[in-house]
Amino acid sequence: MSAAVTEADQTTSTENTGPREGAFGNAVALACRECSHRVDLGPFYACPECFGPLEIAYEFPAITRAEIEAGPRNIWRYKALLPVPTDIEASPNTEPGFTRLLEAKNLAAELGLARLWVKDDSTNPTNSFKDRVVACALSAARELDAKVFACPSTGNLANAVAAAGARAGIKTVVFIPSNLEQPKQVNSAIFTESLVAVDGNYDDVNKLASEIAGEEEGWAFVNVNVRPYYAEGSKTLGYEIAEQLGWRLPDQIVIPVASGSQLTKVDKAFQELIKLGLVEDKPYRIFGAQAEGCGPVATAFKAGTDAIRPVKPDTIAKSLAIGNPADGIYVLDIARRTGGAVEEVTDDEVRAGIVLLARTEGIFTETAGGTTVAVTRKLVETGQLDPELETVVINTGHGLKTLDAISGQVGAAATIAPTYESFKATGIA
Ligand SMILES: Cc1ncc(COP(=O)(O)O)c(C=O)c1O
Repeated sequence: MSAAVTEADQTTSTENTGPREGAFGNAVALACRECSHRVDLGPFYACPECFGPLEIAYEFPAITRAEIEAGPRNIWRYKALLPVPTDIEASPNTEPGFTRLLEAKNLAAELGLARLWVKDDSTNPTNSFKDRVVACALSAARELDAKVFACPSTGNLANAVAAAGARAGIKTVVFIPSNLEQPKQVNSAIFTESLVAVDGNYDDVNKLASEIAGEEEGWAFVNVNVRPYYAEGSKTLGYEIAEQLGWRLPDQIVIPVASGSQLTKVDKAFQELIKLGLVEDKPYRIFGAQAEGCGPVATAFKAGTDAIRPVKPDTIAKSLAIGNPADGIYVLDIARRTGGAVEEVTDDEVRAGIVLLARTEGIFTETAGGTTVAVTRKLVETGQLDPELETVVINTGHGLKTLDAISGQVGAAATIAPTYESFKATGIA
């Protein structure tokens, strides 16, 4: 599987070793997000005409809410809207999705919002939303006959790829920056023997992965050469929010941004649901959340420019530490089109966001969620979020993966002798 994209490749892929009939469900082609040029479905991610990013184009059948609701309680209930085969449930996968949407009354009161929900994706199989995208990428890797399942990652993706590959019985190789949080490294190493820590930041790791994808045959890098299939998995987060709200779109939604893929796919999901007549067409506002130590999209948004200047990340929010975000330009476009914004917060605010969500809703989020909660607070304080409108924030990952970021913020245990007097002396009772 080569990452290079030429017309010759496309012909070869469809005539000789093309995917089996129905391998990608209702997906019909790959379409360029810049110039709309179409190519056949295959392991391609860049437009052969203009080098813009390719994404999946579909011909959807009529589909009803009842048909979706009759499906399994995981992302495959939406399989008709994904580039996966109709018998997708037959193959071993990690079956993520249908995570809880919790009404967060305590947090709403704290932030001064009328109605607020937390979409809690920390309960996915490897405790982040990345299990969604990886499940779709795994299906594509199988259909494209990949021998190795791989990724460059800021941590969560590596965990999800390693776990899904283990369950599917396919060799996995995951690449991470060497300064990654230890729990995220262990969470990958437990599933794969091939965890590669690269002496550099995520953007260096990504560059290396693209080079390997171009050199090695049979490697499916989930977020490089099968990125169009992978990215579609993030739509399920948007579908679920609408379904769990009773087939309604929220008024406002706050989403963390690293590459920006997840944010753009939630917008795509909402648009598809409207077009399919599954939800009422109504305005919604999408907000992006970044940390100041890696906020290139927030910086560009505030400057009112489309020119996203790459940065060298320096933040505790390592899962969001992508200095040169592939989908940043589309995030800007969506934030502007929907009347949203992209905002950033300091590392101290990220830590405070983690504690706030834990103390108000009993949800332990990682630094990405802390960033999202802190940005939500800032958006309310600066009048960018309307406090009267219904708001959803996404918790994308679990706090046990980033314990170091927060352990200094919470009080130590009161160590006492095993006597009632000692306990009384603590002043807790
Ligand atoms: C926990 C968490 N939240 C959010 C993101 C951002 O996702 P995206 O790259 O799609 O913007 C990541 C990316 O790795 C992540 O790990």
